[in-house]
Amino acid sequence: MTEPRPRVWVSQPLFDDVIARLDEYFEVVSTSEVTEYTPEQISAALSQASGALVTLNERVGVDQLAAAPKLRAVANVGVGYNNLDIPAFSKAGIIATNTPDVLTETTADFGFALLMATARRITEAERWLREGHWRQWSFQTMLGADLHGSTLGILGMGRIGQGIARRTSGFDMKVLYHNRSRLPEATERETRASYVGFEGLLAQADHLLLVLPYSKESHHLIDAKALARMKPTATLVNIARGGIVDEDALATALAGGKLAAAGLDVFEGEPAINPRLLDLRNVVLTPHIASGSLATRRAMVSLAVDNLIAAMGVGPNAGAPPNPISA
Ligand code: 8YV
Repeated sequence: MTEPRPRVWVSQPLFDDVIARLDEYFEVVSTSEVTEYTPEQISAALSQASGALVTLNERVGVDQLAAAPKLRAVANVGVGYNNLDIPAFSKAGIIATNTPDVLTETTADFGFALLMATARRITEAERWLREGHWRQWSFQTMLGADLHGSTLGILGMGRIGQGIARRTSGFDMKVLYHNRSRLPEATERETRASYVGFEGLLAQADHLLLVLPYSKESHHLIDAKALARMKPTATLVNIARGGIVDEDALATALAGGKLAAAGLDVFEGEPAINPRLLDLRNVVLTPHIASGSLATRRAMVSLAVDNLIAAMGVGPNAGAPPNPISA
């Protein structure tokens, strides 16, 4: 009798032709519906699984790992992995992996697009036009803030932050950044970016882009106090994680003229949106799509598949997944 093949759980519909590569090694359990899982449902799905491919919506923590005696590896489809309790993975000896690099340029493109849309009020202007308000051309309609010649602040200067900094050269922008650690001088030169302290960044930026990982330390880092340090004419753009911004404080600042505009691709309780943000005209809201080009989303799934196959000890890179994140 042949041994049953290890079971792998794929939590969401991804790309069938890419996922099909798993069939060579595993019994794949997948879903054709976008699914919102309770923590108990994730535990149940993992209880019989040896491996899993998950997205940012599936939280895997101590309870889920305890319920999964056969689990050897979890491949996250995404570079951010705050949905996984990495210390718990390390303690349990279960491999976790993520998908860096393949999404860097696409996400940096989107950060720049969201910045432009926010500073130049593109979605607000379109809504206004569609609602039939444009009766006569006027010199004063929808005046926004310039990107060219302005100071861009980047909070979090990893691969995506650096990608955004590189894109500023055609806009003649001054680039300031703050990061846990300062970049090597050669990288600063190449990205045209200068290091400043957190408070200096807040005070000097005409546009502030958030690209830092979400952690206990970055939770509500942009709170009322931080927002009060920013220029009232400034734009804030968040493509990192919603929990970095105190959304109530942001809504208060935007409503009270303490901040000009915000572009948000991520939200603390997504997909639920703070109703106060929905009521504001000076906010551009997008549904967590920064890495969402077709080519990049396919590349992310493909890399997650490579990671999972290798982490499960099979295939050409058996035992050496390209992107391990647990010890
Ligand atoms: C992904 C992201 O779409 O990579 C990340 O961290 O936020 C997005 O690019 C998401 O993680 C999918 O799981």
